[in-house]
Amino acid sequence: MENQVVVMRHPLIQHKLTYLRDKNTGSKEFRQLVSEIAMLLCYEATRDLPLEETTIETPVAKATTKVIAGRKLAFIPILRAGLGMVDGVLSLVPAAKVGHIGLYRDPKTLKPVEYYSKLPHDIDQRDVIVLDPMLATGGSSIDAVTIIKRSHPKSIKFMCIIAAPEGIKAFTEAHPDVQLYCAAIDDHLNEHGYIVPGLGDAGDRIFGTL
Ligand code: PRP
Ligand code: URA
Repeated sequence: MENQVVVMRHPLIQHKLTYLRDKNTGSKEFRQLVSEIAMLLCYEATRDLPLEETTIETPVAKATTKVIAGRKLAFIPILRAGLGMVDGVLSLVPAAKVGHIGLYRDPKTLKPVEYYSKLPHDIDQRDVIVLDPMLATGGSSIDAVTIIKRSHPKSIKFMCIIAAPEGIKAFTEAHPDVQLYCAAIDDHLNEHGYIVPGLGDAGDRIFGTL
């Protein structure tokens, strides 16, 4: 499991995460922080993109340099809270396509309920990065990846900001082939399925629906 989970402990991420967790941080700043952390996580999650050589002319001389090989990416946020991560990742990979999976967690059963799915038509030729700030019980992310796998993308990675140990265990058991990136692994889940210490309800904090 260790190799399947990358925890990004970069100081910039840890600093931003502190303000993200703070209950006194308002929606405007919260959205900005989610976007910035997503961008920094994306930097790591795209580390293995293959390069190819190209030749250009600088003002001084011809140079053989590198560009990303024609590999195609798709980002798939889990609605709603995953939407908060889209701007940040698109700022690094503007040509990526964006699909959407709508899931909400039933507050009584804590089980995810699917209500929407729209994926790029050429997803079978794309590498997919699934986005959701919170991996709590793991139910939503496990179901989202199961849904996406039915369309046979070339590969799938999952990017979240905060994960609970319970969610990581469930996710890595359900999808041992999916690399997981996060900024923190917290302590535990409380009796309502919230991550402790966490940051509260990510969707409500992003969209101001508290
Ligand atoms: C949150 C979060 C994840 C899910 C995590 O979404 O964004 O999708 O909970 O919990 P799990 O790992 O236990 O499934 P929520 O259901 O609150 O929906 P929302 O984003 O629409 O508010
Ligand atoms: N969903 C959230 O938004 N926060 C949690 O702590 C758990 C699930």
